[in-house]
Amino acid sequence: MPGTLEATQGAAGPMPRGPRPAGSPGRFLPAALVLLLTLCLDPAAALAPELAEVEPAPRLSVTFNPKSRRLTWDCRENATDARCFMLHKEKGPIEIKPWGKACACTFNYAPLHGGVTFEVHATVRGRPVREELLYPNPGHEGTAARNFSCFIYDAGSLNCTWARGPAAPGDVQYFLFIENTKTQTEQECPLYSPDSGTHTGCHLRDLSALGFRNYFLLNGTSLAAPIQYFDSIWTAKEIERLSPPDNVTVYCNTSHCRIRWRPPQTWIPLTYKDFTYQLDIQRRHAGLGSGTPPVQVAGEAENEYCFPSPEPRARQAVRVRVADVRGGPWSAWSRPAAFAAAPNSPPQALTPGRARPCASTSRWCWAPSYAPWSSASSSEGLLGSVLCAPACHRSRIK
Ligand SMILES: *[C@@H]1O[C@H](CO)[C@@H](O)[C@H](O)[C@H]1NC(C)=O
Ligand SMILES: *[C@@H]1O[C@H](CO)[C@@H](O)[C@H](O)[C@H]1NC(C)=O
Ligand SMILES: *[C@@H]1O[C@H](CO)[C@@H](O)[C@H](O)[C@H]1NC(C)=O
Ligand SMILES: *[C@@H]1O[C@H](CO)[C@@H](O)[C@H](O)[C@H]1NC(C)=O
Ligand SMILES: *[C@@H]1O[C@H](CO)[C@@H](O)[C@H](O)[C@H]1NC(C)=O
Ligand SMILES: *[C@@H]1O[C@H](CO)[C@@H](O)[C@H](O)[C@H]1NC(C)=O
Repeated sequence: MPGTLEATQGAAGPMPRGPRPAGSPGRFLPAALVLLLTLCLDPAAALAPELAEVEPAPRLSVTFNPKSRRLTWDCRENATDARCFMLHKEKGPIEIKPWGKACACTFNYAPLHGGVTFEVHATVRGRPVREELLYPNPGHEGTAARNFSCFIYDAGSLNCTWARGPAAPGDVQYFLFIENTKTQTEQECPLYSPDSGTHTGCHLRDLSALGFRNYFLLNGTSLAAPIQYFDSIWTAKEIERLSPPDNVTVYCNTSHCRIRWRPPQTWIPLTYKDFTYQLDIQRRHAGLGSGTPPVQVAGEAENEYCFPSPEPRARQAVRVRVADVRGGPWSAWSRPAAFAAAPNSPPQALTPGRARPCASTSRWCWAPSYAPWSSASSSEGLLGSVLCAPACHRSRIK
């Protein structure tokens, strides 16, 4: 069947590439490539016996199985000192040695959609032998899906999206396979979107088979033409999108306010030290995201941020977002939590320049005696919660 990985292997496998002396690669290589290309494009020409007669040397009959990523050759030639190479356009040459006397090399997962060339170098009956196998991506240019991307969200779901290749025939259908590179278990996408018509997305709710590194293969079929595949390797960490921080609450006494929030749930195990936060605290009439720049706060076991905010205070709202401390995109903003003052309080600027996180201001934040927290209740049904609570716990003093 054309268009499958297996078909490529079948077409490329029985190529009668004779060996050549190791000393003259430059002169022979272009001709070999042209020949290999010709053979791949025209499988009918795959058996060219006259070539074998021109170079009557041992042939290794190299084949590649993309499923197992194994490059194998004919054991009967008793080749010794074998070395295998994958000539990868981006990764360069990758060398693997076979185990013991095995007539096979197993390569690590690598994206193959750009086409690769394999080489086996060995000694057969005292002669150096070098055999190439071109492993192209079958099908016409532009038929593979484009703009393929995946992301893990809500700490346990995966969505992938892609677009039809610009040269893909009207009846093209795409299929997504995800393989855990550690367990080598492969699963097909259980739920494509749309369900009917050309698949351009995938939704996976059960991530239990997903690994830390995963091989994504997006191939396709069409009655009209062979469809090229696209493949990629992503770690779960690379593709996890952090959810916004949870449960943002604001407590105020008469002189200060304290914002607390919970870290996002993640699918990859992360600790509080892996997060950094931004707090966007704004007067409500100004609107979130305007004016005052956000405050940056490092992740703590208990995340909180205290700042002076004497009563009467203007109505304000805060929202929080999170990023990986090592970099990466910010999450969406949390739902805003509003905090307000007594009604009719005069407008009063909030000055995050003076605001300091609790931890660095233990003198006032962790003062041994606290006035009771006032009822800084919100006068209207605001979006978030406004709580009146005891002051910061003294037990957290380090
Ligand atoms: C797509 O890849 C899967 C998994 O390797 C394979 O089983 C299937 O036959 C391939 N389909 C096509 C059309 O190449
Ligand atoms: C490979 O080795 C086996 C056993 O040593 C021998 O019988 C066979 O003839 C050898 N084959 C070639 C092609 O030399
Ligand atoms: C892929 O994305 C790029 C940039 O967003 C866009 O210009 C292009 O049209 C997209 N390709 C397809 C096939 O949708
Ligand atoms: C993920 O895909 C599902 C199904 O297509 C969709 O309902 C959901 O909104 C998507 N989630 C995100 C965060 O894009
Ligand atoms: C939200 O945070 C407050 C204060 O930290 C806590 O009392 C409450 O239980 C939290 N709610 C949830 C659902 O965790
Ligand atoms: C409000 O709480 C802060 C932080 O705990 C504390 O330093 C301050 O003295 C309190 N203010 C009043 C008026 O009680």
